[in-house]
This record gives sequence, C-alpha cells and structure tokens, in this order.
Amino acid sequence: MAIDPRELTQKEQDLLAAAVAFRTDYVEPHAAAWARQGKMPRAYFEEASKHGLCALLVPQELGGKGLSYNGLAAILSTLADACFSSTFALVVHNNLAANIARNGSSEHHAFLPAMIAGEKIGAFLLTEPGAGSDAAAISTTAKVSKDAIRLSGDKAWSTNGGIADLLSVYAQTSPGAGSKGIANYLVEAQTNGVQNSKPYDLFGVGAMNVSGFNFDNVILARKSEMIAPGKAFKAAMQGIDLARTMVAVMSAAMLQRSLHEAISYIKKRTAFGQAIANYQYPQHLLADVATDLVAANALNAQAVTALANDDNATTVAAHAKKFATKIALQRIADCMQIMGAAGALGEFPLSRHLACAKLAQYVDGTSEIQNVVIAREMFRAHES
Ligand code: CAA
Repeated sequence: MAIDPRELTQKEQDLLAAAVAFRTDYVEPHAAAWARQGKMPRAYFEEASKHGLCALLVPQELGGKGLSYNGLAAILSTLADACFSSTFALVVHNNLAANIARNGSSEHHAFLPAMIAGEKIGAFLLTEPGAGSDAAAISTTAKVSKDAIRLSGDKAWSTNGGIADLLSVYAQTSPGAGSKGIANYLVEAQTNGVQNSKPYDLFGVGAMNVSGFNFDNVILARKSEMIAPGKAFKAAMQGIDLARTMVAVMSAAMLQRSLHEAISYIKKRTAFGQAIANYQYPQHLLADVATDLVAANALNAQAVTALANDDNATTVAAHAKKFATKIALQRIADCMQIMGAAGALGEFPLSRHLACAKLAQYVDGTSEIQNVVIAREMFRAHES
C-alpha cells in the first residue's frame, strides 16, 4: 500500500528498513526456487526473526514489536513485492503470535519467545476437508472432560502446515451448536496422535507449505484451551478480517511490482523502430492498470484505517480483498502481455505473482464469500 513513511513512528520506519533488507538479501534471491520446489525451508522464519519480523503484532511488554496496522501493511507490502506466498506464511505466523498474546494465558505466552525467534512456527487450523466456506460447520470434535480434552478430526488447507510446530486448532465442543460450540486450542504438532499430511502440490505458492492434519483421539491438557466456546469463532473471524485486509494489501503490492517491471521493460525494448513504451496502446493499457491500482490502494487504506481505529472492519475488508485480488489477477496478466513472452520468464516475478493472485482469491475466504459478507451487511442496513 502506498503508505507515507512519515505516518510511521521512527521504530516502525527502522523495522520497514529491516524488511527492505530482508526482501532484497533473502526473499528476492530465493523466491523463484521456493515456487519451483514447492516448499520453503524453516530457515525463512529464523532469517525473518533476525530482521525483527516474527512478532510484529505482539505487544512490546511481551517481547514483540507492537506494530500498528499501518506499519504492518507497509512491511507486508514491501515483502509481497518480491514474494506473496512467503509473506502470507509470515502473516499466518504473526497472526498466531498476536492471537496468543491477546487471548492466551501465561502458559500459552511461554511459547512466544520461540515464535519471536522463528524457532517455533505457527499455523491456523480452521478449514476442514468437508468445511471451507461454511466455517461454522467444522466437524473436528473436542470432547471435554474434567481432566482432559480429546481432539478428533481432520484439518485441511493449512498454511505453514508442512513445517509448523504450534497449531491453533478450532474444534466443535458441542455437536449441533454451530459457531457457538467452537473452541480454540493451542496444540504442539509433536503431540501423540497428531499426523501431518504430505504438503499439497500447488502451482507457484510452494512457500506457503500448505498441508492437512489428522487428529486421532489426541489427548490435551485442559490448559490447551486458548479461547472458550462462544468466543472462539468470533475471534477467528476477527483474525480473518485482518488477514483479508493484508491479502488485499499484498495483492496490490504484487500488481505495483508488475507494473514497475512492465514499464522498465517496454522503455528499453524496441519494436518496429522504436521503444514499445512510445506506442499509445501500451501507454493506455498501463494507465488503466495504474487506475485500478490507485482504486485498490484507496480501498485497502480504508480497511487498514478501520482496523487501526478498532472500527468494524468486516465489510470494508471484504470489499478490499475482493477488489484487490480481482484486479491483481487481471492486471498482472496485462503487464505480462505488454512484455511479450519475456513477461513469463523466471527472471521476472510476474508469472509467480499471477499464480499467487489466483490463490489470493481463495485464501481467507473466496471472492464469493466476500460477496456474502458485503450483501448481508448491505441488506441489513437497507432494512433499518
Ligand atoms: N467479526 C466478529 N464476529 C463475527 C464476524 C466477524 N468478521 N463474522 C461473524 N461473526 C460472528 C457473528 O456476529 C455471529 O455472532 P452471534 O452468534 O453472537 O450472533 C457468529 O460470529 C456467527 O456468525 P454468522 O451467523 O454470520 O456465521 P455463518 O455461519 O453464517 O458464517 C461466514 C459467516 C461469513 C460465511 C463465515 O463462515 C466465513 O467468513 N467463511 C469463510 C471462512 C474463511 O474465510 N476461511 C478461511 C480460513 S483461512 C485458512 O484456512 C488458510 C490459512 O492457512 C490461513
């Protein structure tokens, strides 16, 4: 997002400078290989931690950076310029750390130093093989007794799943109770009975290390409960509002980078006796790309501001995510087209960004779910 660094505190500007260094020295040189190999090593998180990027939203009193949402957007935008999927992996890790800081007990907080050091990696386990968009319909069960909790079921589409140590698991404590029966548990991936599936074979977004899990009668201590039934589903949805906003910001960043690459390329490349940039068609096509980008940045800024002001961000985040992911997909393709076949070369990030822009239309709720959220609010407002 086009954030004026002057809106950031000095500490946030320093962290942004560290993010720029991390992007240039580590992410940019590795991103294409992560996409090709379909995986990203754990070392990414240790490197990110060296740059202070593993506890962005954890308050300073718990050892984190206590970053504002503006600062977060600026940093994620900087990183997604080079690689959306590793940045999304970092968002999931940071969101879990923030969730632990906000909702956890001192026992849960004990995991924060290792998360901040990038030694323990977090994952968010809501989605299931049989329940994606209808998140309240999850069927992983938590049978709660006086001394223990028994967790059984399957989880799917978990970012960082392939390398995660700490799992934020949503489970139904009272079958039939819907969203009100859902609780949240913090589970170590090494616990007996937790089984990780083979990472999914996904084109272009290998750095997300997406996989599933099976929980076969996993016995947990009662203190594993981080958010009680009645509160956990809402907390998940609030976390998703933040994630949707950041996906929108990161999608705009991929488009911004693609526009930059297209302009640089066509200023140098000649055809029929002059630079391609001198022709009106590419100028106008890229001007249309720029207009969509300005519009996406404006929507994204509204969503970030709503989060920053603690206003209800649900609808504006849905607008931002739906629009930014849509134009990223269309307009990155336009930037590639104007570069000719060169746009598809691995030396440019555009083909990776294109694959990620498509995935961005699914993660944290599909574009159709964003419309469900927007339509519900619109029709509710119309009644009153
Ligand atoms: N913030 C706070 N509370 C919210 C909320 C929000 N954004 N959305 C809903 N709630 C509350 C409601 O107010 C309601 O509370 P009450 O019971 O007190 O009235 C409760 O939660 C249930 O809400 P709904 O009745 O609206 O629930 P629903 O079953 O109709 O579903 C939905 C709503 C919008 C369709 C929701 O299920 C949804 O967003 N689905 C998409 C799920 C999604 O985005 N999944 C992606 C997960 S990310 C992932 O898996 C990948 C990864 O690795 C990160």
